[in-house]
Amino acid sequence: MYICICNALKDKELAAASGDARTVADVFRRCGRRPQCGKCLPDVAQMIEDARDLESGPQSIAAE
Ligand code: FES
Repeated sequence: MYICICNALKDKELAAASGDARTVADVFRRCGRRPQCGKCLPDVAQMIEDARDLESGPQSIAAE
């Protein structure tokens, strides 16, 4: 599914680039693109957060 229409970036490509990214700009840089209209930025930010949650694992969730 396309997340970023302006750059024709699909969810899988963005998720792969979100791995240990710290910012939305990091993700776009890894994809070799730049944000344009900005409509997808909240979705990309959510992908980064989801990737962080996965990396931190159930231990940190249990500690919260
Ligand atoms: S939809 Fe991603 S920059 Fe426009």
